Amino acid sequence: MTLPVPAQSTPGTGEQSANQSALPPPGSDPEWFKRAVFYEVLVRGFADSNADGIGDLRGMLGKLDYLQWLGVDCLWLPPFFASPLRDGGYDVSDYTAVLPEFGDIEDFKELIGASHSRGMRMIIDFVMNHTSDQHPWFQASRSDPDGPYGDFYVWADDDTGYADARIIFVDTESSNWTFDPVRKQYFWHRFFSHQPDLNFENPKVQEAIIDALRFWLDLGIDGFRLDAVPYLFEEEGTNCENLPRTHEFLKKVRKIVDAEYPDRVLLCEANQWPADVVEYFGENGDECQMAFHFPVMPRLFMAVRREQRFPISEIMAQTPDIPDNCQWGVFLRNHDELTLEMVTDEERDYMWGEYAKDPRMKANIGIRRRLAPLLDNDIDTLELFTALLLSLPGSPVMYYGDEIGMGDNIWLGDRDGVRTPMQWTPDRNGGFSTADPQRMHLPLVADPEYGFQVTNVEAQLRNSNSMLNWIRTMISVRKQHPTFGVGSYAEIGSRNPTVLSFVREFGDDVVLCVNNLSRFPQPVELDLRRFEGYTPVELTGRVQFPQIGVLPYMLTLGGHGFYWFELSKPAAPAVEEEEEDWETTASSSVAQSLLEAGVVGPADSSSGSGGLGAEAPTNPTHGES
Ligand code: NOJ
Ligand code: CA
Repeated sequence: MTLPVPAQSTPGTGEQSANQSALPPPGSDPEWFKRAVFYEVLVRGFADSNADGIGDLRGMLGKLDYLQWLGVDCLWLPPFFASPLRDGGYDVSDYTAVLPEFGDIEDFKELIGASHSRGMRMIIDFVMNHTSDQHPWFQASRSDPDGPYGDFYVWADDDTGYADARIIFVDTESSNWTFDPVRKQYFWHRFFSHQPDLNFENPKVQEAIIDALRFWLDLGIDGFRLDAVPYLFEEEGTNCENLPRTHEFLKKVRKIVDAEYPDRVLLCEANQWPADVVEYFGENGDECQMAFHFPVMPRLFMAVRREQRFPISEIMAQTPDIPDNCQWGVFLRNHDELTLEMVTDEERDYMWGEYAKDPRMKANIGIRRRLAPLLDNDIDTLELFTALLLSLPGSPVMYYGDEIGMGDNIWLGDRDGVRTPMQWTPDRNGGFSTADPQRMHLPLVADPEYGFQVTNVEAQLRNSNSMLNWIRTMISVRKQHPTFGVGSYAEIGSRNPTVLSFVREFGDDVVLCVNNLSRFPQPVELDLRRFEGYTPVELTGRVQFPQIGVLPYMLTLGGHGFYWFELSKPAAPAVEEEEEDWETTASSSVAQSLLEAGVVGPADSSSGSGGLGAEAPTNPTHGES
């Protein structure tokens, strides 16, 4: 499989030596994460270098060129630490050891160096809240209550405490307490009963966790995705989530990281309502720099299926401003189920009804499916979702395999169906591994629609119209406009409820995004008077659209179509001349074809339309954009 030469090649190329960083000097780019495109990649599922059927760090090393080519700025590696793997590695049994089947610390160092030399950063998961019950701390705690680890976990004589805390893994757990036959006490756990929660009241626990964070920071990682942080502390009479002492501890972590490790980022996983999530940024941006925007994610799916922008508009309106040095993480799918905790009961039923028609698709309070199958593999809808991912406020966090529209396998247990091996080629094991196919840690997706024989990187590299090439183009377009990462967000309403439009603004960098959430063609009239005299230039083809005037700006969109326009300032805003321009240029082939195709509505002469004179470059994309 050969990769085309990266067009938007970042400073580092594969030719640089592993320890030569193509990143700016430490301390010089503290807000890199605001412009970054993140990519979540499971070590276990990406590439197998030693033919044992299990992805590993060296396998990933061999795929960095691909990720650089795609335009990824920062990798996010879910846990690759020692673990019995009863929760995909989120059940850690040693915070500073690599799971042997993934490689060792030397492999990890090489991976970091090689990523940095390609200009890519890397954050890793850190599971603060709990460990595996196989962790030596737990083993010591249960067998020696008076020993140094006796207080490392939350123990009680009965299971009645903290009764207001909800159960998260409702499919498998009936209580947050489990009796330990060794210590003859109950231990507290917010997740699986093999994952005891650490006792953060104990300063020794805090120290041990901070030591482990330092261990990885010293190796040069660029930050952490902090797993399950709302649950660090417990307090009777509360729901044991988002407690003030949890925030205090996170602030302490941030202080240490800022003081000792410049330019690192803390991205928190707090599956909470916007008003609660923003607390994780701290009042002055002194806690986590990033937080996932959990509530917007299911609402994208809801809005598109309902063909109504309101689910998105409402949650964006409810999203408080965040401190200047902070950023949202926007995502469509990840290694977990599509969680439906941040929606109402009625909305959850709707989502299950629409997106989980087979009961096997449900998991806990969510839906265990990948993006492409959720969207019935409809290319226009996939592109629309991707466009939203790349244009809503925040940094996009992609999930491996979604760039080629990988499918899932609902017959696998837990969430494994969305964690199957990456599909590189139509060859044995999808090019993921040369092992005996029966030895794969998880079977490759092999159904007729999404199977590796048809859905794979190699096939999509060959086709300039593929989803993969399209996403790469959109990422590179995004990167040409810092406003996508750092600009303000203002929705532009319209009478057509199926169209979601918004403006992203950062100084002179102004981008208008118009999204048709309906499967049918739609017209929309936008009040763009604030931009009177500006010319919208469509970002993928650089085609100029009619100049904005004082009357409603009319656009038509194909089903699930969208536009990204740069709004470029008028050079000399002389209205009469502009009208003349329109007259003279309207006969140009570009203008003519736009009109004939109905891409622009008949120009309203009083709106001062103009500026259609530019020759359209070959549009590198397909579909409506
Ligand atoms: C959040 C992780 O994303 C999920 O995969 C895991 O099961 C839980 N934390 C519990 O560890
Ligand atoms: Ca392997």
